[in-house]
Amino acid sequence: MSIVAVLAVALGGDSIPAIVPRPAHVTVQPGAFTLRTATVIVTDRALRGLGERLADDLFPATGLRLAVRTGAPAGTGTIAIRLDSSLARLGEEGYLLDVRPSRLAIRAYRAAGAFYGIETLRQLLPPAIFRQAEMTGVAWRIPAVAIEDVPRFAWRGVHLDVARHFMPKEFVKKVIDLAALHKLNRFHWHLTDDQGWRLEIKQYPRLTQVGAWRRETLIGRKDQDSTKWRFDGQPHGGFYTQDDVREIVAYARARFVTIVPEIEMPGHSQAAIAAYPELGNRGDTLPVWTAWGVDQNILNPGEATIQFAQNVLSEVMGLFPGPWIHTGGDEAPKAQWKASPLAQARIRELGLKDEEALQGYFTRRMDEFLTSHGRRLIGWDEILEGGLAPNAVVMSWRGVDGGIAAARAGHDVVMTPGSHTYFDHYQSSDTAAEPLAIGGFLPLDTVYAFEPVPPALTAAEARYVLGAQGQLWTEYIPDPKRAEYMVFPRLCALAEVLWTPREARDYADFTRRLATHLERLAALDVNFRPITN
Ligand code: ACM
Repeated sequence: MSIVAVLAVALGGDSIPAIVPRPAHVTVQPGAFTLRTATVIVTDRALRGLGERLADDLFPATGLRLAVRTGAPAGTGTIAIRLDSSLARLGEEGYLLDVRPSRLAIRAYRAAGAFYGIETLRQLLPPAIFRQAEMTGVAWRIPAVAIEDVPRFAWRGVHLDVARHFMPKEFVKKVIDLAALHKLNRFHWHLTDDQGWRLEIKQYPRLTQVGAWRRETLIGRKDQDSTKWRFDGQPHGGFYTQDDVREIVAYARARFVTIVPEIEMPGHSQAAIAAYPELGNRGDTLPVWTAWGVDQNILNPGEATIQFAQNVLSEVMGLFPGPWIHTGGDEAPKAQWKASPLAQARIRELGLKDEEALQGYFTRRMDEFLTSHGRRLIGWDEILEGGLAPNAVVMSWRGVDGGIAAARAGHDVVMTPGSHTYFDHYQSSDTAAEPLAIGGFLPLDTVYAFEPVPPALTAAEARYVLGAQGQLWTEYIPDPKRAEYMVFPRLCALAEVLWTPREARDYADFTRRLATHLERLAALDVNFRPITN
């Protein structure tokens, strides 16, 4: 052994390559596979598209245009990507990656697994592989390893609020790409809120003609000290056409990401009420909201409004093929329902206890409607309060208690607690050195320490915890560059929480790998927050 190798072993240098999230099982072997002009990608017929995508991904930085052959033997100098029906133990998303100096093979039970094997393969190359121009002087070597990898959780998500600040279509695609790089498989798209409605709905054109635009935006936090905030006087808005959405859905599908669209109701709906005042409780004409916070203006609970919401959801289901449709449900103050003759008559005629139960009724009507169309309703944990709809999935954001209650009631849960998954919170305690944020403090190591399965759950109850996701609310995040700064590298840490076996999680090892991973993010033009503390 050379002195360098001895030192490397002593320093943990035979440690696993800098893959994020860390694979379940990695065995490092001697030697490396080198990409050359003559390297051929060999696939099954079913995986030809993945082989071509790999060839396309490898081309810009290497300048090598690798041939893709279907049905050819996997001999010396090949990268084989195959499905294997004997690998059912790896499930939908697991894979084997066997790299030897002479050849490289990815095997999986299903295409998603093969896709994740390819994502790992890209991370075994030098970070310059993520550059978009030919990088000369780089040896395109892939260290010999044997990897067997499966995710810990089925729901590995990232959320993006495009209502508070509209984010362009190209950025939405970039977020989906970055999610896939981290082996995340859900994109929760928060499309509507008080400050903007961002999805074209053909039956209700005013939702975007009116609801997608606000007069101005609050800058700073609106508190007693009036020198700390102002309105910017700049109109803001934007929306996605249905063709834009179809494009983004196809883009996500090619990366094994399921989009979970969110249409907020009955709260967080002022933009919809601005477009159609009859949806509100008072009939007055409201602007699209220009400030932040919890808004008193919520949808009325009348039958015509329920019909409106179901009509919107019909168009949503036509656009988004995934099983889950999110109907919000959080932060719906009941003062207007308490004062509304229509809401009070509803409570009496339905024999309900109170306004919370009326929201429960509203949610159950959406749940029945979505279920009858073969979909699942998902909502924030307030949907527990008025009696949980029978098929609903719960996102536990006010801590994990809502998730515990839902799992005990036999409902699927996605953990989204503010304490560990809200990426709009500060990344440093030195807030003066950070861009203005909504508040909170969520450093990288706290994200990494998150445990999605609360110890209070029995093993049987824990099976209802599908996984977790990171949230990016954008009140204080005006553009994509700021969004990237808030999301990265915290999303890297959450990806590892969700993918890697619990016992293989090690923060020191993560930060070692992250140093290399940040070079990848730099190559991909991601404005991550540098690691300084
Ligand atoms: C939420 O943060 N209001 C779900």
